[in-house]
Amino acid sequence: MTDSGDRLVSRDGHSVPLARRNSVLGADALELTAVPPATGAYSYDPGYASTASCTSRITYVDGEKGVLMYRGYAADDLARHSNFTEVSWLLLNGELPSHAELQSFSEELAGLRACAPEVLEAIAAMPAGAHPMSAMTVALSVMPAVYPECANPGDADHRRRFSHRAIANVATVAAAAYRNTIGETAIAPRHDLDYAANLLYMMFGEEPNPVAARALDTLLVLHADHEQNCSTSTVRMAGSSGVNPFSALAAGCIALWGPAHGGANEAVIKMLEEIGTSKNIGEYVARAKDPGDSFRLMGFGHRVYKNFDPRATIIRGICHEVLQELKTGKGRLFTLARQLEEIALSDNYFKDRRLYPNVDFYSGIIYRALGLPATMFTPMFAIGRTVGWTAHWCEMHSDPESRIGRPRQLYLGPTARSYTPVEKR
Ligand code: SDX
Repeated sequence: MTDSGDRLVSRDGHSVPLARRNSVLGADALELTAVPPATGAYSYDPGYASTASCTSRITYVDGEKGVLMYRGYAADDLARHSNFTEVSWLLLNGELPSHAELQSFSEELAGLRACAPEVLEAIAAMPAGAHPMSAMTVALSVMPAVYPECANPGDADHRRRFSHRAIANVATVAAAAYRNTIGETAIAPRHDLDYAANLLYMMFGEEPNPVAARALDTLLVLHADHEQNCSTSTVRMAGSSGVNPFSALAAGCIALWGPAHGGANEAVIKMLEEIGTSKNIGEYVARAKDPGDSFRLMGFGHRVYKNFDPRATIIRGICHEVLQELKTGKGRLFTLARQLEEIALSDNYFKDRRLYPNVDFYSGIIYRALGLPATMFTPMFAIGRTVGWTAHWCEMHSDPESRIGRPRQLYLGPTARSYTPVEKR
């Protein structure tokens, strides 16, 4: 451990040297391994708000400046000029693909789109009322049994096959889950459509409007990765035990589903529909500010962004274009969302806490304009994020420093006491 000059001084004056790990961008990290032996104290950091759980080279977020980069490329550049398949290659491999690499990767993913029949049977067995995120989790949990060639985290070929199979199949699984909720059978994927167009085709059975397909592709790019968010950290934690990678993805799906995380896009639309008209906005903003009310403005706030989430800004711009082009109405919700954003951002409660619209605030408006029910919004998030989950899982299993995740705790329970037989209690 090099002496970085950083020290922690314990209450008895004991000076503990802390090794500093320098970042390429953003905050450095201080290694705390020497602290417990020297001080008898752990670091306490609920929600890991100030803790770096790993090193990573995949995505960088500057929360102060509202910057998001995938392997050094600005996400808004990629959203404008790239596509989901190319960004998937970038996140998995670290570089933009050559033309030949992109062609071969696109063809490989298209060839992997069809799911094993056992996976589709598991989805079809779900009750029609089951949420599609449930079905996706079940489908991922079936995959270890049908894709043994992807099972071994220690084998680079297995890791590559797993990541390609997962990215290709997750769209087919989500579409089949949607079809099951409407009592319809799954539609087989087509190889001649690009990733997003095929996803819409598998849901609705017709070739989509190119504007709709392009909008969905951009949303998938913007949702592809986001550092050590709750679901990605869950995939890393579950994966650190050596479990089959599809099972680690299932864990990530479950974490993403929560309304504080990827489930927020569904919650935003429900909130906007409940608000109904601009005259009710004041009441809901007041509720969001009331510490005694559990209601929060869904789609607002972020653990890292203390400025605009760059994804929200891009998605807001796409909303306008999609609503204009598809003429599917729902402009009412977009107008309401814009009014809500304006009122919240002029209110000191939100300004003081640096609460801005996040990725989930506007995305549901686009998904709704594409014809998706609210229950399919989080599955769309999961499809995009599957690329990040697989990239981080592969990075973790290629990292010699990686070890099983096992945090400590601050124990506040009872001290030692003797058992009293029930007849004496
Ligand atoms: C995603 O981590 C990622 O990168 C996630 C994500 C990704 O790409 O993976 O970006 C995707 O999950 C986006 C977030 C989606 N969730 C929501 O939109 C749900 C609503 N937002 C909040 O629940 C909240 O803002 C979180 C969960 C996003 C962040 O929670 P934090 O960082 O733990 O913040 P906090 O709860 O400590 O809040 C700090 C203060 C509190 O007030 P005080 O106690 O200081 O008075 O801000 C308040 C909170 O009450 N606050 C809100 C609020 N969010 C925070 N008040 C009203 N409405 C909100 N939305």
